[in-house]
Amino acid sequence: MDKSCEVTALGELNVDIILNDIDGFPEMGKEKFAGKMTVALGSSTAIFAANVACLGARTAFAGMVGRDSFGSLVSESLRAKGVDTRFLIESPDYATGATLVMSYDEDRANLTYQGAMDHMGFDDLNPDIFRESRHIHISSVFMQSALKRDFSRIFEAAESGGVTLSMDTQWDPKEEWDFDCAAILPHVDVFMPNETELKAITRTDDLSGAISRIRPYLRQVAVIKCGSRGSILVKKDGEVSEMPSFLNSHVVDSIGAGDSFNAGFIYGYVKGMSLTECQRLGNLTGAVNTTAAGGTGAFTSREAVIRTAREVFGADCPL
Ligand SMILES: Nc1ncnc2c1ncn2[C@@H]1O[C@H](COP(=O)(O)OP(=O)(O)OP(=O)(O)O)[C@@H](O)[C@H]1O
Ligand SMILES: [Mg+2]
Repeated sequence: MDKSCEVTALGELNVDIILNDIDGFPEMGKEKFAGKMTVALGSSTAIFAANVACLGARTAFAGMVGRDSFGSLVSESLRAKGVDTRFLIESPDYATGATLVMSYDEDRANLTYQGAMDHMGFDDLNPDIFRESRHIHISSVFMQSALKRDFSRIFEAAESGGVTLSMDTQWDPKEEWDFDCAAILPHVDVFMPNETELKAITRTDDLSGAISRIRPYLRQVAVIKCGSRGSILVKKDGEVSEMPSFLNSHVVDSIGAGDSFNAGFIYGYVKGMSLTECQRLGNLTGAVNTTAAGGTGAFTSREAVIRTAREVFGADCPL
């Protein structure tokens, strides 16, 4: 069947309100100034969607925002990045989620109002996404309780629509790590946590022990992100391949490196590359991410990504 979307990003959407150069840390009963404010599209899933679209995949977003100005900012920003917004839902009941990011010295404190994204469940989704998508990517599972509650219905719809699935857990802000590997992983074609998240969900401190706990449940492959050390590919049949990163010795910041890795890997996946080629492209787009500020700064165009790969990392980028 001809699918109009190669990749549909499903889930969390919010705006980031980033306050920089603040006078001092906020204190109850007092008021302080911030020297600079940026309001921008936030969320791991949105960074993924923007970057996989930039690489050249036909990408749509299925998520929920409020009927408010932050909701308009989210949909306009996605469209400006070339992401199809026909599956976005405007909730009359909930406001668009927002994260207040306070940067103080070298560190940041984040405060998130989940808003609409926490309420989107299976019944809110347009069923066309399962007919029109070749692949669906889900991220930040612990930020979206309604979506997580409905995973089994999503898996069933994806399977009957012939849709492949990828999932990045991301961090659990409550640090409860309630993730049933035996129930979830057999339905996820590409599982993409980072190493800390994998250890937390398997409740083990040892990486190889954590890998052996998920391996029996894998549908096809897991790829584990290990920061500047690169990534580890774990195939269902048991083959484990570590691949070093394209090391960047002049990192601007690594915000969104994991989402950019996911974008490169899933681009390769939907274009039919081998899993090893997908891993290499993920490592490369993760590294490209670290050459500019924020999660999308280095992804201004496909040509820019190819140029950065060549000039900074001496690498051929197979886009
Ligand atoms: N300093 C670096 N130099 C080169 N590549 C890097 C660097 N940091 C990260 N990467 C690449 O990006 C990939 C993803 O980064 P990381 O492991 O930090 O993901 P993450 O923890 O999921 O990040 P995020 O905070 O975005 O969720 C790594 O597997 C690696 O290939
Ligand atoms: Mg991550």
